[in-house]
Amino acid sequence: MNIGCDIVENKRLKNKNQDFINYVLTKKEQEELAHKNYLYLCGRFAAKEAIMKAFPNTKSHNLLDFEILSNEDGSPYCVNHKEIKISISHEKNYTIAFALVIR
Ligand SMILES: CC(C)(COP(=O)(O)OP(=O)(O)OC[C@H]1O[C@@H](n2cnc3c(N)ncnc32)[C@H](O)[C@@H]1OP(=O)(O)O)[C@@H](O)C(=O)NCCC(=O)NCCS
Repeated sequence: MNIGCDIVENKRLKNKNQDFINYVLTKKEQEELAHKNYLYLCGRFAAKEAIMKAFPNTKSHNLLDFEILSNEDGSPYCVNHKEIKISISHEKNYTIAFALVIR
């Protein structure tokens, strides 16, 4: 089992261009983003950075290796990685995420 966390200052990601969005979000995540505001990008970025910390060989991963979509109740889940549990919370200025890897 391992854990990682990350915190993002929301304003840093507010006006990021499409190249950055493509670096962070998969196609399906970008489809979800279309129905949300930029805090969604902050949450996925923080969650993926948290996942990197939760894996010992973090350098071998790319942010697009992990796709985090939303269940019907809004809770995030990591597609194809049932061993990874994610929690995200937004405040006005910051977004925080935890990733728990159960192995
Ligand atoms: C989940 C809940 C606690 C969020 O609290 P909040 O203070 O408004 O918002 P936060 O910023 O702390 O959290 C938002 C994040 O929580 C996550 N989230 C949303 N719903 C969730 C849920 N049911 N369980 C776990 N996490 C949830 C999401 O990742 C969301 O960020 P995202 O939209 O960028 O992915 C609140 O919406 C709640 O109590 N919901 C009850 C369940 C519900 O209403 N379901 C909808 C009807 S089915």
